[in-house]
Amino acid sequence: ELAEITTLLLSRIRDVADYPEPGVMFKDITPLLADPVAFTALTDALAEVTVRHGATKIVGLEARGFILGAPVAVRAGVGFIPVRKAGKLPGATLSQAYDLEYGSAEIEVHAEDLVAGDRVMVIDDVLATGGTAEASLQLIRRAGAEVAGVAVLMELGFLAGRARLEPALAGAPLESL
Ligand code: PRP
Repeated sequence: ELAEITTLLLSRIRDVADYPEPGVMFKDITPLLADPVAFTALTDALAEVTVRHGATKIVGLEARGFILGAPVAVRAGVGFIPVRKAGKLPGATLSQAYDLEYGSAEIEVHAEDLVAGDRVMVIDDVLATGGTAEASLQLIRRAGAEVAGVAVLMELGFLAGRARLEPALAGAPLESL
């Protein structure tokens, strides 16, 4: 059954060449979101991972991690916490900068949304270089919460995000469907 789901999900991911810049093959998940059978299968699979690892909260990474993480949180019966690009959250935030290939980026979370005792599953569509997910794990730990794991639809193996993420995971699982 897992092989069937993987085949369905793969068939609904569109490869877009040279987007957003020449030489990049963009993985477009909008066909998957538009297909209720595939979107439901993905939501169920990510919710199963969330429950199996004992998570009490989900962190979704802007923007596609919001689309996937929110229904997973409802299905798993846990809270949803948005991790946003800098400057978008109105309350007191924790922020974490991280390096991109050229330059840097910064993500933020509302400080009061994560507390000691929380076990957090990070959800996103793609693990590429791993920089965004790594920064999110740093935010979670700085807030005093525990990392339950990272769950993504897909992992771009050639970018070695898994290896980059390993120290920050500190033994927590990286699940990629
Ligand atoms: C993409 C993707 C991940 C991140 C992965 O988001 O959805 O969040 O990049 O890249 P990394 O592993 O190299 O950090 P993007 O920054 O394009 O944001 P968006 O979803 O708001 O378009």
